[in-house]
Amino acid sequence: MHTITLIPGDGIGPEITRAVQDIFTAAQVPVQWEEQNAGQTTFDQSGELLPQALFDSLEKNRVGLKGPITTPVGKGFRSINVTLRQKYDLYQNLRPAKTTEGIASRYAESGIDVVLFRENTEGLYSGLEVYDEQRGIADSFNRISVEGSRKICRAAFAYAAKHGRKKVTLAHKANILKMAGTLMLNAAQEASREFPHIQYEDKIIDNMCMQLVIKPEQFDVIVTTNLFGDILSDLLAGLVGGLGVVAGANIGDDMAIFEAVHGSAPDIAGKGIANPTALLRSALLMLEHLGEHTQAKRIEAALNETLRHREQCTGDLGGSASTQQFAQNVINNLK
Ligand code: NAI
Ligand code: MG
Repeated sequence: MHTITLIPGDGIGPEITRAVQDIFTAAQVPVQWEEQNAGQTTFDQSGELLPQALFDSLEKNRVGLKGPITTPVGKGFRSINVTLRQKYDLYQNLRPAKTTEGIASRYAESGIDVVLFRENTEGLYSGLEVYDEQRGIADSFNRISVEGSRKICRAAFAYAAKHGRKKVTLAHKANILKMAGTLMLNAAQEASREFPHIQYEDKIIDNMCMQLVIKPEQFDVIVTTNLFGDILSDLLAGLVGGLGVVAGANIGDDMAIFEAVHGSAPDIAGKGIANPTALLRSALLMLEHLGEHTQAKRIEAALNETLRHREQCTGDLGGSASTQQFAQNVINNLK
């Protein structure tokens, strides 16, 4: 039995985590949940955004499943997501995007199967910002370290080697960011020499965006810095059916927190219509991480069966099922 720290989060978070819990219970997955919340809801209840009990639970269990958390804009709050990623050095943000039978998108026929590795602790999201009120100038530092760049690039190549992938593409802006960009470029070249059987190429980020829209099937594994990775992962989501279906994982050397790419979706929160697929797929990545491959494959098959029937799906996928009905459909499709 694995004990997992469960962070329901804000907005649609509690609705989709509930759906995943129901599916795991029905499938008799050997996990037990230790619920510790954080975020806006917790703040409103207790005055604390990130309670110590959550840290204690994560440090004990080393694996978490997390719903999205609302980050209030302009109120001086630091993002809880960034805080957790930095505190536990969860330097890899793994975000797979794949076309799936039954999920409509303009690219449904193109066979996209991309895994994005986003550096998760540095870059423009380092949190190093100063505002000089007198001059009316804000500086946000794009801190990139040699070590951080090496770690994420090596992780991307190691993943490619382990999973039989053929190519790694670095997305960067070293032509303009002469220092920070070049560190990442050097790190990727260095890693590629360690994995000579894997093709390597680099692309400048703006061209990369165009290439992804024109011919996304040419990409395999992509590695990039924090800000570019944040943007590219939503772009990839758009190519394969939207934010309701793409999973993610924040991985460090001794802790991992699994969460969807999407946010708390305040526009649909509380309505019971959010798509739990993205969080469910993140939870399946978690099962793979825990070595529960058979369970992961079994639930994935039930999910894919559900996705093949549009009427069994939520509104974002053209169906009319509620979040709970969708979860029940996945349960009914378990073999
Ligand atoms: P969002 O990802 O929450 O929503 C963007 C659009 O996608 C909305 O129209 C929403 O309804 C839709 N959407 C997202 N997830 C969906 C799902 N599971 N099913 C169906 N439709 C879905 O992005 P937004 O609105 O920019 O951010 C809202 C809040 O979430 C902000 O406070 C932001 O800081 C936070 N956020 C948190 C993240 C996290 O905790 N990892 C990641 C991204 C944003
Ligand atoms: Mg994002």
